Amino acid sequence: MYRADAPGRVNLIGEHTDYNEGLVLPTATPQRTVVELSPREDRVVRVESEGYMPIAYRLGEERHCGDWGDYVRGVTWVLAKAGHPIRGFDAGIASRVPPGAGLSSSAALEVALLRALRDAFSLTLDDMALAYAAHKAERDVVGARVGTMDQLAAALARTGEALLIDMRKTKIERVPIPADVDIAVIDSGIAHDNAKQGAYNERRAQCEEAARRLGVASLRDATLSDVERLVPQSATLARRVRHVVTENERVRAFVAALQADDHARCYGARLVGAGFGGSVLALVDADRAADAARAAAERYRSRTGRTGRVLMPV
Ligand code: GLA
Repeated sequence: MYRADAPGRVNLIGEHTDYNEGLVLPTATPQRTVVELSPREDRVVRVESEGYMPIAYRLGEERHCGDWGDYVRGVTWVLAKAGHPIRGFDAGIASRVPPGAGLSSSAALEVALLRALRDAFSLTLDDMALAYAAHKAERDVVGARVGTMDQLAAALARTGEALLIDMRKTKIERVPIPADVDIAVIDSGIAHDNAKQGAYNERRAQCEEAARRLGVASLRDATLSDVERLVPQSATLARRVRHVVTENERVRAFVAALQADDHARCYGARLVGAGFGGSVLALVDADRAADAARAAAERYRSRTGRTGRVLMPV
């Protein structure tokens, strides 16, 4: 029996920048997804996950089914495509990363499963290669045209530090999160799902269209004067460009404030991940984080009637 795990992620800042060759700053959640796996002698794959219908298929017969099993089928498909030799297996998944909360439970599952398969079949894959394999599984089999942030975070991030990733060079710097700062995460109860919500793929297509019209390789190369140039053509495209240009700046400013211990400057709250539902993230004094998160969830309930679930601090 082989056992492996991977965390969820919260991105402190830098959203919708990864697929524009920009900057992101994710960290790992304390919640992790655990995979226990036993190799088989045949080519049958059987996987169970608490609370979901079990899946079963034969290696080589992977196809998109639109259910959670696509993450598993995506992973075995991508390994075969890259020439990694695996056999069938029985696996059980236990996840503490809540689905639909915008914490990338999908990347946690893909990376944990890849790690278990790496151990079980002695695959030569380092964590970086594993992140890219997970990304390809999600893009090509699940069908969400996501960037690589979530899989890189699930494979490389640790709690207590953020990963400053420059997506243009895949340059990664570990940025410690000071001990007196805590991250509060509250699930809004409005489910997030990139694959189902074409809105994510639409954002991405708009960014590509804007880059094409500006004649740049990606929006990483765009500037605020490009925003002005685009306004007469399309207010929407101009907004997308402004977001990417200023968001990259916000990542830089945030890291500078964190490194200078300038907490007053880097405190704040925002939606985490792609948006379209999911969780709210706030940076708060460590000794007040639990109270602040509870108070925010309570206020949310009394204002909207919805239940906000405190996911961090745990
Ligand atoms: C989702 C995607 C990531 C990234 C974020 C937005 O989490 O999976 O690649 O684009 O949205 O920052």
